[in-house]
Amino acid sequence: MSKGTALITGASAGIGLELSKLFAADRYDLILLARREDKLLHIKKELEQRFSIQVHLIIKDLSLPQSANEVFTAVQEQGLHVDYLVNNAGFGHLGKFTETDLDVFQRMMQLNMVSLTELTHLFLPEIQERKRGGIMNVASTAGFMPGPLMAVYYASKAYVLSFSQALSNELKGTGITVNSLCPGATDTEFAETAEMDNSYIFNNPFATVMDAATVARLGYEDLMKGKSLTVTGGMNKLMVQSLRVSPRNTVMKLARWLMDKR
Ligand SMILES: NC(=O)c1ccc[n+]([C@@H]2O[C@H](COP(=O)([O-])OP(=O)(O)OC[C@H]3O[C@@H](n4cnc5c(N)ncnc54)[C@H](OP(=O)(O)O)[C@@H]3O)[C@@H](O)[C@H]2O)c1
Repeated sequence: MSKGTALITGASAGIGLELSKLFAADRYDLILLARREDKLLHIKKELEQRFSIQVHLIIKDLSLPQSANEVFTAVQEQGLHVDYLVNNAGFGHLGKFTETDLDVFQRMMQLNMVSLTELTHLFLPEIQERKRGGIMNVASTAGFMPGPLMAVYYASKAYVLSFSQALSNELKGTGITVNSLCPGATDTEFAETAEMDNSYIFNNPFATVMDAATVARLGYEDLMKGKSLTVTGGMNKLMVQSLRVSPRNTVMKLARWLMDKR
């Protein structure tokens, strides 16, 4: 018997896929969302067979305006109820602000911030009604600092972090958890999509690139424990702590160094 249903965006790869496996293993039915239908069909088949749960698919591009409303309508039309919403889909792009097409930033802001906020607003009332469940918004350690050469991406994650922490405060005592998952560099398709697989952040002697399964597990455990903030890994925790007492200009120089190509 299923414990409830989790809607997970960006479930076709990386951290979202690993989170999907964790919810499935815990006997949650799933609504998996991404753009690549072939990948999702394969994942649906595997998870249904392995865990005897139901997996529903929504093929949607969340970088398009109105897509969040379309997702909400599709879920309602199928008579499904969402207990956990995981806003994980997101992408970055390495490059100077003025040398990057505006279209890239428009899609990034729509996906990383606008759709995330709209989905939260649309699904939260029914989660609140049942007085249990929660929301995980995937931010990043990037949310704690400005990020030259990825200015809009870092700013979008600062938005996710600030929004999610404030919402968590508003929902205190309601039984609903809002978790901000803040991974550092993680081995997924992200770096290739962002054209940053040659940057220091993924390639330096001290680089601690975590695997997606570990990142997902740390976030999932904290979400289920009702914790509002998860910074993954000891090095990332140390970095975030040190940012609190470091001059912003120094932090920005470090962030730029990490972004630079090898
Ligand atoms: N990897 C890292 O180093 C890292 C570090 C910190 C934070 N994060 C954050 O972690 C989250 C997950 O990223 P990841 O590392 O797992 O990257 P990933 O492997 O590239 O996975 C991204 C997922 O989002 C989906 N997606 C991308 N654009 C979409 C769109 N327009 N509409 C709907 N779905 C879309 C992708 O599926 P389709 O292509 O099939 O649509 C895929 O399932 C992101 O929010 C990212 O910013 C990643």
